[in-house]
Amino acid sequence: MDFELRIVANAEELNQVAAAEFIRQANEAAQETGLFTVALSGGSTPKNLYALLAGALSWQAPWEAMHVFWGDERHVSPDHVDSNYRMTYEAMLSKVPIPPANVHRYKSEQTDAHNVADEYEQILCAFFHLSPGQLPRFDLVLLGMGLDGHTASLFPGTAALHERQRLVVANWVEQFNAYRMTMTFPVLNNAACVIFLVSGGEKAETVHRVLEGEALPARFPARLVRPAHGRLLWLVDKDAARLLAVKPR
Ligand code: 6PG
Repeated sequence: MDFELRIVANAEELNQVAAAEFIRQANEAAQETGLFTVALSGGSTPKNLYALLAGALSWQAPWEAMHVFWGDERHVSPDHVDSNYRMTYEAMLSKVPIPPANVHRYKSEQTDAHNVADEYEQILCAFFHLSPGQLPRFDLVLLGMGLDGHTASLFPGTAALHERQRLVVANWVEQFNAYRMTMTFPVLNNAACVIFLVSGGEKAETVHRVLEGEALPARFPARLVRPAHGRLLWLVDKDAARLLAVKPR
């Protein structure tokens, strides 16, 4: 296995382990470089992790050195109920001393999703001082996984799965009849560390197919996340891991 698998008892332990990893990596990066760059996941799984980081553990995180991005965003305004930014702001960012300039959200209120993606790509290029063709290297990327094996907004059968040049694209997702902005696989796979957070028995079949199945990766996009020069940790609770043949030692 070219990834680490850690099976935890339940969603609560998933958040505790993820928070400990997050804080450890944040402090390590902040001490080494003065910065910690993280691309956060949307969805519901990480919400309680963000609340935990903003709560009892908040004092342990180097908020001043932290720069927060998102792996993807919905094409809605930042105060919309479906906004990943809004979820993260309410759960964490509104409660911690992170400088506002360190929060790099998609300007998803813009009418044209392609402009939103282009602008976010420029934000990455500027922040990471990228030359043409260079990739940003996040210290940490947090990802979730949907029942269909999607991650970020890289859904099965969508154009973004094949993007190898752009850093961020507007990806048309038929099932939502909407665009979603998403970082592309080259960016995700250039991270120093990627942590998948997966919880719940309903995902057990997909977890098995993604981690142990032979199906075409494009059928389960999460399989395509393989950091070339980085660490890949699957944090999975017992219910979501119940169909795995391989159990970590
Ligand atoms: C999003 C996420 C998406 C999410 C999965 C899992 O914008 O929703 O980027 O990839 O991580 O859909 O979502 P849950 O954690 O809600 O199951």
